Amino acid sequence: MVRKVRVGIVGMGQGGSIVYKTLQSIEHIEIGMVCDLLEKTQGMKMARLDGVQTCVTLEAFLKVPNLDVIIEATGIPEIQKQVRQNKSKSSAVIEAQGANLMMFIIEEKEKLSEIKRLKGELDAILNSVQEAIEVAGIDGEIKYVNPSFSRVTSLSASQRIGYNVFDVSPNGALAKSLKTHEPVLAHRAMVGGTSVEVISNASPIVVDGNMEGAVVVFQPMTDIYKLMEQLKASNQVIDELQNHIDQISTSSYTFDDLIGSHPEFISALELARKAAKGNSTILITGESGTGKELFSHAIHGASLRRNKPFIKVNCAAIPETLLESEFFGHEKGAFTGAVKTKLGKMELANGGTIFLDEIGDMNPYLQAKLLRVLQEMEFERVGGTKTIKVDVRVISATNRNLLEMAKEGNFREDLYYRLNVLELRLPPLRKHKEDIPAYVQSLIAKFNRKFGKHVLGLTARAEELLMQYNWPGNIRELQNVIERAMVTVEDDMINHKHMLNFVDSQDTIEQEQLVIEIMPIEQMEKQMIQLAMKRYGNSMEGKKLAAKALRISLATLYNKLKAMSSNL
Ligand SMILES: Nc1ncnc2c1ncn2[C@@H]1O[C@H](COP(=O)(O)OP(=O)(O)OP(=O)(O)O)[C@@H](O)[C@H]1O
Ligand SMILES: [Mg+2]
Repeated sequence: MVRKVRVGIVGMGQGGSIVYKTLQSIEHIEIGMVCDLLEKTQGMKMARLDGVQTCVTLEAFLKVPNLDVIIEATGIPEIQKQVRQNKSKSSAVIEAQGANLMMFIIEEKEKLSEIKRLKGELDAILNSVQEAIEVAGIDGEIKYVNPSFSRVTSLSASQRIGYNVFDVSPNGALAKSLKTHEPVLAHRAMVGGTSVEVISNASPIVVDGNMEGAVVVFQPMTDIYKLMEQLKASNQVIDELQNHIDQISTSSYTFDDLIGSHPEFISALELARKAAKGNSTILITGESGTGKELFSHAIHGASLRRNKPFIKVNCAAIPETLLESEFFGHEKGAFTGAVKTKLGKMELANGGTIFLDEIGDMNPYLQAKLLRVLQEMEFERVGGTKTIKVDVRVISATNRNLLEMAKEGNFREDLYYRLNVLELRLPPLRKHKEDIPAYVQSLIAKFNRKFGKHVLGLTARAEELLMQYNWPGNIRELQNVIERAMVTVEDDMINHKHMLNFVDSQDTIEQEQLVIEIMPIEQMEKQMIQLAMKRYGNSMEGKKLAAKALRISLATLYNKLKAMSSNL
């Protein structure tokens, strides 16, 4: 063990206290005694707290044995003299000035060891990073390379350090940054003297406002390519999962979401409710926008399969070349681009429901294949030999007349009968206009929520406009008209002007023209009745609607019609 240096201090004023504090923190120094004529100086108190011996007379101090060094910190010549004359021979005396110098050396030494420690930490960091690092001075002389630099470039430190970067890598980011005094980012270049392509970031090294050199950090492009490959592979996995999730949408509508009170609508609804319980194949027909998809969701949602997948296939939207693999999946390597085995919609729907939308647009080749699946519930993946058995409920939908198509040879008749075990015919909206107010109310409530509005309803004239229109786009069109009206409406009622641009029917124009011409009132009444009958039809239901539109009772309408026919 190293023997500690025993130190005594005379004078514990401000200077003495600083000396005391510094010495106290040094391991190899032991403070044997401190002395001050005043007992209560800050330094004396500190020493007593530290358990260091104190005294208040010089005589007592000079009697302390074995002091290696005495520090005289009073600066008073008389005391300095006494200490020098009376100290023991083995003690060295350092006066305040000397003490300050010693303190300076000690502090510098400590700073140096701090710098050494930082350098050690920095070395550890630079040695362990994966990126290659190279440092050059302002004149371009290379001062440092880390181990990764050698790994990436196959150049050892001695093949690089001491050379000038302007000679060995004049086109690199480091040389550029030294020349421009600016950072250089994402710079692609070959490391000079090698065939290693790297991507680098370089920055100036600035000390106290002066540029002293620059540092470059880089990675070989091969690493980046590898990362890109990995990223691509991960993205592919994500895409596939997303695809799966998109396809396995659980059906989100129930029968309660379906509005309608017209007998034809109600009978479709009742049939659908009953059919939902079983497993029969269902064909839903109806014009565009009549709710075919909505019905298919509701049927799945009310069936025992509701917790299994509901898979929708738009037969018109899949490119012909992909149809088979979309439906039945493919084995890895079945064709160029089939890098992985992929499940088809039929397999994804196993246990659940497949909804074949726009079935009238399915190509003939696939019609034949589908027929076999419907008959046997089994198929092979494209490029595969294993037969896969599934249990899938098939619901198909079309707005085309399949039977007619079959007769004309445009759709397989056998498939038509397979699909059409149960047919749900959805009436066009013009056939159940009396449901319009109920649809409108539910749409207003929905769009009030969506747009944060407080619309209450329609003005009488607006409702009349909707009742008169023919609705070729059915409920979807009605929905669009109300949505657009709700965007523009500013008060709490939608009026006819909010809708005129959208409900642009021949009939409404006809009506405007009719009222423009002046004619006997009696004649106008007749024209109105004729128009109403033309629009709503001669059925019982049509007459009711006509009477409502004309704002007369049904009995009055009958009377007027009777009078008109007898006047002919
Ligand atoms: N009975 C109904 N009650 C409430 N909303 C309905 C009803 N029928 C249809 N809708 C609404 O009308 C819109 C069109 O319905 P859907 O998409 O089911 O029609 P579609 O018959 O499949 O049309 P397309 O043949 O054009 O695909 C949907 O937004 C749906 O919510
Ligand atoms: Mg549809």
